[in-house]
Order: sequence, then C-alpha cells, then structure tokens
Amino acid sequence: MERILSGIKPTGELTLGNYIGALRHFKDFQNRGDVYIFIADLHALTMPIEAETLRNNSRDIAAFYLASGLDPKRCTIFLQHTVPAHAELNAILQNYLYMGELKRMTQFKDKCSKMNDNQIGLGIFAYPVLMAADILLYDATIVPVGEDQVQHVEITRDLVHRFNSRYGEVLVLPRAEVTKVGARIMSLCDPSKKMSKSDPKGDIFLKDPLSVSRKKIMSAVTDSGSEVRFDPAAKPGISNLLTIYAALKDITPQEAEKRFAKFRYGDFKKAVAEAVEEELGPFKARYEKIIADRSYISVLRDGAKKASLVAAKTLRRVQKAVGLLSVDE
Ligand code: TYM
Repeated sequence: MERILSGIKPTGELTLGNYIGALRHFKDFQNRGDVYIFIADLHALTMPIEAETLRNNSRDIAAFYLASGLDPKRCTIFLQHTVPAHAELNAILQNYLYMGELKRMTQFKDKCSKMNDNQIGLGIFAYPVLMAADILLYDATIVPVGEDQVQHVEITRDLVHRFNSRYGEVLVLPRAEVTKVGARIMSLCDPSKKMSKSDPKGDIFLKDPLSVSRKKIMSAVTDSGSEVRFDPAAKPGISNLLTIYAALKDITPQEAEKRFAKFRYGDFKKAVAEAVEEELGPFKARYEKIIADRSYISVLRDGAKKASLVAAKTLRRVQKAVGLLSVDE
C-alpha cells in the first residue's frame, strides 16, 4: 500500500501553478493509498510574514484542500505545527544533512542570493531538513509535487540512504511524483519565470474573481508570429498557455496544439480563459461555502490526532535507532 504525503506552504495567495502542479492531483491519490496532506505553516515562517496573514492563508489552504475534493474520511488533513513530531524529528535529522548540500539548494539560492548573512534566517537555510522530517514521519513512498520541489525530495532520499546505511532500515525511501503536464507553470507576464505566490501581475490567484483571471489571460505575454504552436524554447508564452489548457483538460500540449492550429492568438486566449473559468468557477464556489461554514476546523482537529499517532511511532523508531534512551516500560 502506498503512503502519499504532500503539503503547501501558506506564504501567499495560492496560484494556478500550485493548483495545476499539485493541489488538483491530490484527490486522485485517495484511490492509490493512504494520503496525508498538510499545511506547511512552520515552513511559512522561514520568510518574514505577518501573523494575521499566516492565519488567513492557513485557513484558505485548508478550505482549498476540501474544495479540491480531498475527503477527510479518506485522507488525513492537518496543520504541520499541530503535530509536534515534525519539529522533534527535525532536531534529529538536522545532524544528517550538511551545510555544503543545503547551500546548493536552488530555492535557497533564489530566495537568499540578494540577502546578506545577517538577514538570512536559519530556518530558510535548513528548510530541506524540516521538509525531510515532514515526509519521513509518515513513511511516505510517494510525494506529489511540482518541479520546483523535486530537489528537496531528492535531498530527502540522500538523507535516507545516509541514515539507513548507518542505522539499518529505519527510514522509508520516498520518491517525488510530478504531473506529466503542468509541473512548471510559468508567469503570464514573463514566461521565463515560474508562476509564484509573489507576482501579482503574472499570476492567476485562486481567489481572483473570474473576470480578473480572464483579463490576466487575455493580456498574457505572447510570442512573435501568429501561430499557436507548442514550442517552449521558441514560443514560451503560447506554450505556457497551451500547457495550462492541456493540464485542465487532461490532454497533452500536443493535442491542445492540434485543437487550436487554426486559431488566432486572441481566440486561443479566450478558449484558455474559458477552460480556467470552467474549472475554477465550481472550485471557488465550494471554497466560499467551506470558508463560511468553517467546516475545515474540525477536519484539522481530527487530522492532527490521526497524523500525530502515525508520526509519534516513526519518531520513536528514529529516537531508538540513534540511541536516545527510552524511559517507557
Ligand atoms: P509551495 O507551497 O511553494 O507549493 C505548493 C505546490 O505547488 C507546486 N508549484 C507549482 N507547480 C507548477 N507550477 C508552478 N508554477 C508551481 N509553483 C508551485 C510546488 O511544487 C508544490 O508541490 N516546500 C513545499 C511545501 C512542503 C512540502 C513538504 C511538500 C513542505 N513540506 C513535504 C511536499 C512534502 C513548498 O514550499 O511548496
């Protein structure tokens, strides 16, 4: 039986990239195994964030999880900080990853390249250690993520090999699973950049009114020429829109390209905007209802209990392996 684990960090407003690369797929994993989906709120503290913003973003992600079709009867949904074993395992595992390898992480380099050492918190540097703890606590075999997080799953795998070769088969080896279409959705105003939570113009936010997402798509940067063709190197803007369309329709970008072969850019963009509206319209309606009835609260409370039981067992196994003396009978 597969164990599946993933999470989203409540640092900013969720984007269509988060939706296509990760969120949209989580529900399907409920047919493939035991699913743990959490809100990575401790990770959100690795960059400065207002307390109220963090709380609101966390509520939003909980509601988005439920709106996406995750069913609390078939999976475990929880807030990272409500399972103390994450921080406890982090304290142990930080001794098995090294400064050299952490310094090489792309996310760390992207976020901190323009900061000096007195601005960079220890948390952002040690980010992959906590992420490894998240994954390993649940003996996860599959970690569904977008392309930008694969490197963190890879370093988790390195850690497992290192740890197990010293202590025996204690930790389970996870692998990243990346969606075939849409693992890296690009910014609508600069298709050389990833769509990220911090770029209001180039992003479609899941909370944008549909009229706003339509406008953003209609004014997305396109490429020279007039042909709708999938060619990420020569036509990054059009290829990004084809990818968005294809991902939402569960087809390949090449199939999408065929559909729009005779279209002008404007009509093509209209079709993409419609596909986004068709998908996000009902999703947003479900989200609004969940935010209003606050049903996510009891889900998170129950999730914390269920997750804590599993996490505590793994933590004990690791404590024992490294030699932390147990005082239980
Ligand atoms: P986060 O919150 O940055 O992103 C959540 C998920 O969305 C994916 N994603 C994208 N996919 C396609 N195109 C994009 N433009 C795009 N932007 C983001 C991300 O790859 C991710 O899957 N470190 C994680 C959270 C985390 C986690 C974990 C995930 C903490 N612990 C353990 C899995 C397992 C993060 O910051 O994701």
